[in-house]
Amino acid sequence: MLKLDKVDTNYGVVAMLRDVSFHVGEGELVCILGPNGAGKTTTFRAISALLPLAKGRIEIMGRELSSLRTEALSGLGIGFVPEGRRLFADISVRDNIRLGYEAQGLKADFADRLDEMLTLFPRVRDRIGQRAGTLSGGEQAMVALARALVGKPKLVIMDEPSLGLSPKLIDEYFDTVAEVNRRGTTVVLIEQNAETALSIANRGIMLVKGRVVASGTAAELLGSDAVRHLYL
Ligand SMILES: Nc1ncnc2c1ncn2[C@@H]1O[C@H](COP(=O)(O)OP(=O)(O)OP(=O)(O)O)[C@@H](O)[C@H]1O
Ligand SMILES: [Mg+2]
Repeated sequence: MLKLDKVDTNYGVVAMLRDVSFHVGEGELVCILGPNGAGKTTTFRAISALLPLAKGRIEIMGRELSSLRTEALSGLGIGFVPEGRRLFADISVRDNIRLGYEAQGLKADFADRLDEMLTLFPRVRDRIGQRAGTLSGGEQAMVALARALVGKPKLVIMDEPSLGLSPKLIDEYFDTVAEVNRRGTTVVLIEQNAETALSIANRGIMLVKGRVVASGTAAELLGSDAVRHLYL
């Protein structure tokens, strides 16, 4: 579904990602871990074609990324949950989710798909007509995920979606992400919360200062010095 091969990116003259390689197979749930400033969002931006590569290549669903524009990615069946959620505060929850649907090139059957999302996120149902900016942080996190999932993407990529949620809500949120994965969606989950992310992931990749310092199965990472030293 996704393959990064020796990717470098720069911010002006500043080096950020260096020699980053990893792959995500169909049906997997892979988490990308790392401390603040490690390059997680930079990786997200590179994958979403928002940032040019200085070196290396990215393949997404069998296509080379450099041949695609960001808008075309949604049409391929990829859902994005960006850092900070980026909801449109002044329009309704329903319209925010509708925009995710239309971004995937879909129009018909929105009502049915919306209803499916509201079954997955029952807390959002009562808020559907409300302006998104008036929702609580936890509710906004669910709307951002619903917006990414409403078009039934094959792959969903999330950048710290649980930030700011209470421990109880984080558990609920991660249960939902695991359920989405069990139903067949491949998931790339960027997280700082290593223990919780690894508890639902098949595999993980750990970034520090723009480089991959550890990768492996969830169990391997939980036992690795790099992860234990930084997190546990
Ligand atoms: N537009 C930019 N210009 C210059 N430097 C940038 C730019 N965007 C990010 N950086 C730098 O690149 C580094 C990696 O940033 P990035 O946002 O990828 O980190 P992150 O792992 O997502 O961190 P966090 O967990 O805090 O979100 C940081 O040192 C940051 O200051
Ligand atoms: Mg970030």
